[in-house]
Amino acid sequence: MSDPRPIGIFDSGIGGLTVLAALRDRLPGESYLYLGDTARLPYGTKSPETVIRYALRAASFLAAHDVKLLVVACNTASAAALEALEEALPIPVVGVVWPGARTAAAHARARVGVVGTESTVASGAYRRALTALRPELAVSARACPLFVPLAEEGWLDHPVTHDVARIYLAPFAEEGIDTLILGCTHYPLLRPAIQAAVGAGVELVDSGPAVAAEVEALLASRDLAGTGGGVRLQVTDGAARFSRIARVILGAHASDLELVDLAD
Ligand code: DGL
Repeated sequence: MSDPRPIGIFDSGIGGLTVLAALRDRLPGESYLYLGDTARLPYGTKSPETVIRYALRAASFLAAHDVKLLVVACNTASAAALEALEEALPIPVVGVVWPGARTAAAHARARVGVVGTESTVASGAYRRALTALRPELAVSARACPLFVPLAEEGWLDHPVTHDVARIYLAPFAEEGIDTLILGCTHYPLLRPAIQAAVGAGVELVDSGPAVAAEVEALLASRDLAGTGGGVRLQVTDGAARFSRIARVILGAHASDLELVDLAD
């Protein structure tokens, strides 16, 4: 038995495409419906109440398209709204915070840095998860709000991005972290600048591969695995800009892009 329904994925913008790319690598036989809620981007500077409202809206839009599982490919929404989404939806919901924290806890030696949006860092979600997994780890977290607009602009390896990364990340180098969690799905797009700023000895953790492994296990355990393949992309604004950057991340799969209205 196979389940041909798509896996639903959402983020505020292009960041979740880093999770979609990891899912596609691991589960090429699944179909994917991706929603980039670009009309409401950024989520990361909004209050938890607003993020919950946006996340519920995006999720119910995807649920109405008959997705079999929802991946919350946004740390901000995972930190603020995962419980609300699990309560509201009749399908399995996978967030990105715990898979990322588990990967970091498996690799870290002693000191872990976390970077994310203001909202994710203020939520303390990574600190709580890491402390639960490995109480002896030292954890420091910092918000890097300019990383999201830089990624959305496509300035992935731009000199300005390198400058911003150096300024934001200098305190981590002084603290001597050995692992840095990229706690926003936009940040893996800026990997070269982030790695250069913290030094080659620091392991960068992004939750994409761990999320893909968790989704694979969930599909198998609930008999939901599909055969099909294909990616459908939807955005709530700025389709041309989104598709330009999506093409860099996803290649040919970015061609099928629709503008949608979540009507709130
Ligand atoms: N990519 C999202 C995250 O992982 C949020 C970016 C934003 O909209 O601020 O948190």
